[in-house]
Amino acid sequence: MIMKAKISVIGAGFVGSTAAYTLLVNGLASEIALIDINGERAEGEALDMMHGMQFLRRAKVIYGSDYELCRDSDITVICAGAHQQTGETRLDLAAKNAKIFKSMVPEIARRNRGGIILVVANPVDVLTYLTLKYSGFSPDRVFGTGTALDTARFRFLLGEHFHVNPNSVHAYVLGEHGDSEFPVWSSANIAGVRLREMDGYGRKQMDGIFEKTRDAAYEVISKKGATYYSISLVISKIVRSLLSDSHDVMPVSTLLKGYYGISDVCLSVPSVLCRTGIDRRLVVPLDEAEKRKLKNLPASSKLP
Ligand SMILES: NC(=O)c1ccc[n+]([C@@H]2O[C@H](COP(=O)([O-])OP(=O)(O)OC[C@H]3O[C@@H](n4cnc5c(N)ncnc54)[C@H](O)[C@@H]3O)[C@@H](O)[C@H]2O)c1
Repeated sequence: MIMKAKISVIGAGFVGSTAAYTLLVNGLASEIALIDINGERAEGEALDMMHGMQFLRRAKVIYGSDYELCRDSDITVICAGAHQQTGETRLDLAAKNAKIFKSMVPEIARRNRGGIILVVANPVDVLTYLTLKYSGFSPDRVFGTGTALDTARFRFLLGEHFHVNPNSVHAYVLGEHGDSEFPVWSSANIAGVRLREMDGYGRKQMDGIFEKTRDAAYEVISKKGATYYSISLVISKIVRSLLSDSHDVMPVSTLLKGYYGISDVCLSVPSVLCRTGIDRRLVVPLDEAEKRKLKNLPASSKLP
């Protein structure tokens, strides 16, 4: 089981602070560093969590605005940066967040030579690519949450539709975490039963479920301003998988090298998670339409 791990969370906004809280509640770290350019915010969030320590597995929480706090982390989770405003796409954030990453990532990397970096800030595929570049780390130790969240949303909606637990739905959303992502219908199944053979299957309903998945962030942001609970659960699951060397398969954003002919771009494909990061990417069967969608690289891949 998980013994002793230091997890640093950079950015103590909605996502970072909820992620730190979720990691604490799940007892996944012996030490958590919560770092934000706004040190007071980090302090306020950390104090609020620490006041509940009586009810949690013991962990040290350190906080502030100094990157030195993240030294020697097993995993650093980057949630820092601007977030989407109503009507803004993830790509609109690219320029703002790329600038932040250029100065932030080298600060993290030089203090964590042996660690793993998990990128959450958007556009996550572009920022994962930039984190690789600015850290100089190997592509197996830098990856983004990618379509892990979209896949969770997809499985939730399919689970509701077919009246099964989302855990029993085997279906992926792959590609970009953004508007060009796509569902892999060709292999989607519940207990080995293809979706199109399930009672309640209808092409129109399935398309509706995917559209709802793809647009979920816009819907939540327009109603409450930000999304942070579900992404924090995704972060927590990834951290658990890494620390416990679980070899769980999750669709995360990694640097592709010859994946269906695609190279030198970060996109989500099912990947095996182990103690040192990404063990390998699985080449999943795709039909011709799905291959075309994967190869139809998002606008983000053309950004610097
Ligand atoms: N990948 C996903 O599935 C997913 C899901 C939800 C949100 N997000 C993204 O996560 C990011 C954070 O969202 P949020 O709602 O928490 O935003 P937020 O504005 O609440 O928090 C961002 C925090 O980053 C801090 N920050 C900015 N520059 C910094 C720096 N250089 N060093 C340290 N801290 C810095 C800010 O002070 C702020 O507290 C956004 O980019 C958002 O789009 C990703």
